[in-house]
Amino acid sequence: MALITLRQLLDHAAERGYGVPAFNINNMEQALAIMEAAAACDAPVILQASRGARGYAGDLMLRRMVEALAETWPGIPICLHQDHGNDEATCMTAIRHGFTSVMMDGSLMADMKTPAPYDYNVQITERVARMAHWVGASVEGELGVLGSLETGEGEAEDGHGAEGKLDHSQLLTDPAQAEDFVAKTGVDALAIACGTSHGAYKFSRRPDGEILAMSVIEEIHRRLPNTHLVMHGSSSVPQELQNIINENGGQMPQTFGVPVEEIVRGIRHGVRKVNIDTDCRMAMSAEFRRIATKNPREFDPRKFLKPAMDAMARLCRERFEAFGTAGNAHRISPLPLDGMAKRYASGALAPVPSTSKAA
Ligand code: G3H
Ligand code: 13P
Ligand code: ZN
Repeated sequence: MALITLRQLLDHAAERGYGVPAFNINNMEQALAIMEAAAACDAPVILQASRGARGYAGDLMLRRMVEALAETWPGIPICLHQDHGNDEATCMTAIRHGFTSVMMDGSLMADMKTPAPYDYNVQITERVARMAHWVGASVEGELGVLGSLETGEGEAEDGHGAEGKLDHSQLLTDPAQAEDFVAKTGVDALAIACGTSHGAYKFSRRPDGEILAMSVIEEIHRRLPNTHLVMHGSSSVPQELQNIINENGGQMPQTFGVPVEEIVRGIRHGVRKVNIDTDCRMAMSAEFRRIATKNPREFDPRKFLKPAMDAMARLCRERFEAFGTAGNAHRISPLPLDGMAKRYASGALAPVPSTSKAA
């Protein structure tokens, strides 16, 4: 069984200078699409489940499914990660259900709507990191609140995100505070805020440095060269998928995502985990619409789902190749959680190893 922790995977990515897309899953079809893509290009995989996904599929189904994926593709290391854990209970129950990694998102209070005070974020993240490391699991923290630099609003499109207006000091991670946060919490990876937001409606125009602050990533990487950085809200919202959706009865207003070349720039500056959900949703639902329009008499779900899986697999493979993930699965021998726990206990894993050759 090739389950891997986020920490081991991102240490490898840092050593070799690549990034790993973290794709959200809610069901078997999404998971199969990602695995087909990974197997086709020898990429290690991060599958992440939000609280919503855990509620939708159920913890037992997710766990058994990921075990089955690992058995089906023994050569592909799989990290199962809790996306946007809102409190200790969410993170601990995830680990109990076989997740090898959790995100403790203390940038917001547990309601996932109210921006949290810095001290709260430090304390809850440190607590989760300490507990997770006892059993060898990894922890991602977040500093700064995701949201648009154009509108000052968090993105509530997918049901979570800050409410009300935020100023730039909240929407952009403070590099000096990032140093303090990493030192105090012992996180394995740090999610930063740089103007990206969840969902399809990120930017009203192709983003430039005014609204997508890649310079913040560069400065944080300069100060914390050995910390694995995470970009959330990193769907590119491809124009061709917007077109297919709108040509087949959809009504998506014109929108812009994070260009792949900006993510690649981030990877050159310490970004190791790149969160992508919306692009996969769009790739699948564009196919549903296309097939429903082309063949209105069709009603077999497989006739919709198989092409949708193929479309999502193509998108995932493109990201694996663009981020340099492809070709690395066979180079990694996943350590079991117990082995990782021993490494934390011996002090070997804190902070992130200075052998990292991140650009
Ligand atoms: O965190 C954002 C992801 O897109 C997950 O969204 O909560 O609708 O599953 P979700
Ligand atoms: P997108 O909505 O841009 O795909 O972001 C997903 C994400 O950040 C999940 O945590
Ligand atoms: Zn996110």
